[in-house]
Amino acid sequence: MTYTSDCCETSPTAGPIHGVGIGLRSQHYRYILANKPSTPWLEALTDNYMGDGGQPLGYLEQIRSLYPITFHGVGMSLGSPGAVNKAYLRRLKERIRQFEPVWVSDHTSWSACHRHNSNELLPLPYTEEGISHMAGKIAEAQDFLGERLLIENVSCYVEFRDSQMPEWEFINGIADEADCHILLDINNIYVNAFNNDCQADDFIQGISPERIREIHLAGYEDRKTHLLDTHGQEVHQPVWDLYLRAVERLGPIPTLIEWDTDVPEYPILQQQAGIAEGIISMSSKSHAHAA
Ligand SMILES: [Fe+2]
Repeated sequence: MTYTSDCCETSPTAGPIHGVGIGLRSQHYRYILANKPSTPWLEALTDNYMGDGGQPLGYLEQIRSLYPITFHGVGMSLGSPGAVNKAYLRRLKERIRQFEPVWVSDHTSWSACHRHNSNELLPLPYTEEGISHMAGKIAEAQDFLGERLLIENVSCYVEFRDSQMPEWEFINGIADEADCHILLDINNIYVNAFNNDCQADDFIQGISPERIREIHLAGYEDRKTHLLDTHGQEVHQPVWDLYLRAVERLGPIPTLIEWDTDVPEYPILQQQAGIAEGIISMSSKSHAHAA
């Protein structure tokens, strides 16, 4: 099946995107509109724009007229039991039609079960059953939306006794079975490797490069006994180092700076984006030299 997002990668109005984008936060609406910073693309948190009318939608319309955007959501709960949430997808489809995002992404997690909702992106055990379940829901959502989705690896603080495979095999399996793309969060890989005592580089080496369309970078909080994925600080040096090794293996994948708590002034985010741009260009120069 051909999805709209496959076409968007060559559409002059919706993409393609390159380089290092920044997560769009309400604190920066006015700064962006007044200063039109040279950020190549912005990522909107889909769930902030699902209501009818209001200021966020008005700002997003103005910003969308200036920048390509991607949609990044937390509301699909693709690992939950039962079918996909059609009411949520119907609203999302309206927003996709309205804003023509280059890509639409969500997570390999669950947040809702029966009538209970968690604000967290909860992981699943890495099992064949989990792959089939999540892939089925992603395929259903893709068919409903007419969009190929990107799915993101989430942060995880425990290991499940039932897991049958490493996380990258689980994600590769879902992406293959659902025929979707992957959004690789380098910070989450690092946090999980630290918390669960495994090797982050094994993930980078094991993930399917051909399916990755976007990378996320963010800051964690060091709680000494564990790392907490807060998106509230600058990207830490071990995550930059892992990002360099990822870019060396995967190439110059469009990358996003995510910052969600204690959001700083926009220029701080641009400075973080500049570091990522530097790493991408350092990696391509070393590739050119080797060739
Ligand atoms: Fe992320």
